[in-house]
Amino acid sequence: MSKPTIAVTGKNGQLGFEISQLENQFPQFQFIFTGRQELDLDNPETVDDFFQQNKPSYFINCAAYTAVDKAETDIETAMAVNATSVGLIAKHCREHNCPLITISTDYVFDGQGKVPYPIDYTTNPINHYGYTKLLGEELALQHNPNTIVIRTSWVYSTHGNNFVKTMIRLMNEKPTLSIVGDQVGSPTNAKNLALAILTIIQKIDSKEVTPEYGIYHYSDKGVISWFQFAKEIKAYKKLHCKLTSTTTANYPTPAKRPAYSVLDSSRIKAVYGIDSTDWKESLYSCLDNL
Ligand SMILES: NC(=O)c1ccc[n+]([C@@H]2O[C@H](COP(=O)([O-])OP(=O)(O)OC[C@H]3O[C@@H](n4cnc5c(N)ncnc54)[C@H](OP(=O)(O)O)[C@@H]3O)[C@@H](O)[C@H]2O)c1
Repeated sequence: MSKPTIAVTGKNGQLGFEISQLENQFPQFQFIFTGRQELDLDNPETVDDFFQQNKPSYFINCAAYTAVDKAETDIETAMAVNATSVGLIAKHCREHNCPLITISTDYVFDGQGKVPYPIDYTTNPINHYGYTKLLGEELALQHNPNTIVIRTSWVYSTHGNNFVKTMIRLMNEKPTLSIVGDQVGSPTNAKNLALAILTIIQKIDSKEVTPEYGIYHYSDKGVISWFQFAKEIKAYKKLHCKLTSTTTANYPTPAKRPAYSVLDSSRIKAVYGIDSTDWKESLYSCLDNL
């Protein structure tokens, strides 16, 4: 009997790359990794073509328009990639009886909360990226009832562009840096999220759990500001740049960012037995490989 196939989009992004690094740990599955060349979320025809040529058993959508500031003006592309195409993928998945896991973001919330957001907390995105991602969630759930949406936050990896790598570069280049100290959240090592996703699929496929679809949150454990995050990177890498804390008001960006961006990850633990790792441990594991 042939192995179940897992299709993955965004193979060149942080999360897609981390999933590809785990392929050997999940030999019971066959993987199809796609990038923009094979499946372009800004071009619906390529989505249709993909499903005509492939019959995946599971679909993981890691591709997204993630340029948060650019999304404020490049509205059409962000909408096509983060919303319309996700709905189209979900439709195809339904036709193929293929569970879909699609990734969303803490930016669906407005940041005004004071305690970790449960999955049913009121959404109210304050930037266009968040709005398109929320629409993507809704379309995915609407078009394929066998959809798991995983919202995550502050993703970094040894691969791709992210805060950790930018900080190391800037701290090596500059004597001083100002970092925002009044936005708090939970940094998430993409490697942990990748393992969480494949563990869910493995548990569903082996019938170890009865699948429960819908919305989940997954972040590494802990709540810190960007400033605290930068301080920890500096200390671990023994860098000499002087860091000062600044405010969001002093660091204007085209897209607004939520002030409080902490997700309550309890459902993923309750249903799929997935516990998150402490943020410092996760950060050190990434820094050791940089
Ligand atoms: N990064 C974060 O801090 C963060 C936080 C919360 C949630 N998330 C969500 O987590 C998921 C994974 O994010 P990530 O950090 O891995 O993002 P990433 O590193 O920016 O990767 C996104 C990938 O999407 C691909 N992509 C963009 N437009 C595409 C298109 N039209 N067709 C096909 N592929 C396209 C990119 O391709 P190219 O390589 O060719 O550009 C890239 O490989 C996304 O859903 C994101 O919204 C991320």
